[in-house]
Amino acid sequence: MLDTLDELRTRFVIEGGRSLTGAVSAPGAKNAALPIMAASILAAGEVVLHYVPRITDVDVMAAILESLGARVREHSGGTLVIDTSSLDSYCPPYALVSKLNASFDVTGALLARFNRAEVPQPGGCVLGPRAVDLHLAGFQRLGAAVSLEHGSVVAAGATLEGADVELGQPSVGATKNIMLAATRARGTTIIRNAAKEPEVADLAGFINAMGGCVRGQGTPTIRIDGVRKLHGCEYTIIPDRLVAGTYLLGAAITAGDVTVTGIDPGCLHALCRTLKTCGCELTTEGASVRARGVASFRPVDVSTGPYPGFPTDLQPPLVAYLSLAQGTSHVEESIFDARFVYVSELARMGADIKVSGRQAIVKGVEKLKDAVVEAPDIRAGGALVLAALAAQGTSEIGGLQYIDRGYEFFEERLASLGASIMRASVVAPVQPRTDMGDTMQMPKVVTPFSA
Ligand code: UD1
Repeated sequence: MLDTLDELRTRFVIEGGRSLTGAVSAPGAKNAALPIMAASILAAGEVVLHYVPRITDVDVMAAILESLGARVREHSGGTLVIDTSSLDSYCPPYALVSKLNASFDVTGALLARFNRAEVPQPGGCVLGPRAVDLHLAGFQRLGAAVSLEHGSVVAAGATLEGADVELGQPSVGATKNIMLAATRARGTTIIRNAAKEPEVADLAGFINAMGGCVRGQGTPTIRIDGVRKLHGCEYTIIPDRLVAGTYLLGAAITAGDVTVTGIDPGCLHALCRTLKTCGCELTTEGASVRARGVASFRPVDVSTGPYPGFPTDLQPPLVAYLSLAQGTSHVEESIFDARFVYVSELARMGADIKVSGRQAIVKGVEKLKDAVVEAPDIRAGGALVLAALAAQGTSEIGGLQYIDRGYEFFEERLASLGASIMRASVVAPVQPRTDMGDTMQMPKVVTPFSA
C-alpha cells in the first residue's frame, strides 16, 4: 500500500546498457536480522547486534519491539542495541505487524517469555496467502492453547513442554517460531523436517549466544533443550545471500564482471550452478564470489525449492536475466502461489514470458527496452532494476518502498559498479488529451536525490 504521494513519485531512473564491473560487499541478511531482532525478546537484557542491514523492514521490526516496551538504539555502521528487560506487552499492534510477514516471528518469542502471545494473524501479501497452520500446530504440540480472537492469534500455555514436532513441509517461518517457543520449554523439543536455510541456523546461533541450547541447525532435525533463562549477548548477523545473488545476476545480465565479498560461496551454490549452465564464468575464493557474464548465453530450466534448492527470492531476478537468453527457459515456482506477479512489468520492457500457474516459459528476446514500471514486491523490484540496467534507453522504476525493504543502499552500490542510476522525484505522466492522439507526455525528472 502506498503511504504517501512521495512514494508514488519517487523512482529509480536507470540508463541501461552499461556493464557492472567491480567489487561490492554483501550487507547483513534481512531474513536473519528480522527473526534475530524478534528473538531478542527472550533475552530480558541488552542485545548488541552487528551487521544489521539498513533497510526499512529493520525499522519496522524495531518499532514492533518498541511497541512491546523494548528500547532500541541504533549506532553507526549497522549496530543495533536492543534492551528487552522492561518488555511489558505481548500484543504488538496490527498497524505495524501488517507491514511485514516476518513480524509473526515475535509470536514464538513472546510465548516463551510471557507464556502468552497475541499477534495479529498475517493475512496475505502480494506473493499469496501466508499460511501459519504449521506454526500453530507446533505451539499446540508444546502444550499451548491456540485460538483466533478479533483477528489475532492467541497462543497461551502456563508451562510449555518439549515435544516431537514433525513439519509437513520444511517451512522457514514455522521452524523459527517453534524453535523460539521451545527455548524455555521444559525438556527437549525435536523439530523434524525442519528448514535448513542459513538464516534459520543463524537464529539458532543467536539463541545459543543468549544461553539457549539448540543443536542440529542446518540439518532437517533440530533439537532444542529448554533452559530456564536467557541473557543478553553480542552477535553478528550473517551476510545476505539473496542480495549477493542479485549482484551476481547483475553481472550476468549486463555481461559484466562483479565480485561479491564477505559471503559464504556455499550458500550461493544453486545460483552459481545455474549461472554456469547458462555460460557465465563463476569463481570463488575464500569469502568471495566472482561472476563474469557473457553477451550471448544459454537458457536453463530451474525450479525453486527449500534450501539448498534454488531460492524463491532469486527467481524474479533470474527470470529477468533469462529473458535475454538465446532460447527458451522453463522456470517453476514451488514456494509461493503468486510469485510471478511482476512478469507483466517485465513484459512492458519487451520480455516474452508466459505464465501458467506456477510455471513460466521464458522465451529469450534479443533486447529489452526502456519502460516505466512498478515494483510489486522486494525481489521483483530487484528483477526490474536488473532488467533496466540491461535495457536500451532510460527506464523508470516505481515501488521503491518495496525495494528499500530489502536492498541496503541499492543505488549507491550499483553506481559504484558503474551503473547509471539515480533516485529521483518524477512528475507522473499525464493522460493524453484526445486531440493529441496516442502521444503520451514523457515524465519529467525534477529532483535527483542521489547519484
Ligand atoms: C520463505 C522462503 C525463505 C525466504 C522467505 C523470504 C522457502 C522454503 N522459504 O520463507 O527461504 O527467505 O520466504 O522470502 O523457500 N506454509 C504452510 N503453512 C505454514 C507455513 C508455511 O503451508 O504454516 C507454506 C507456505 O505457504 C509456503 C511454504 O510453506 O508455500 C514455505 O513457507 P515458509 O518457508 O514458511 O515461508 P517463509 O518463512 O516466508
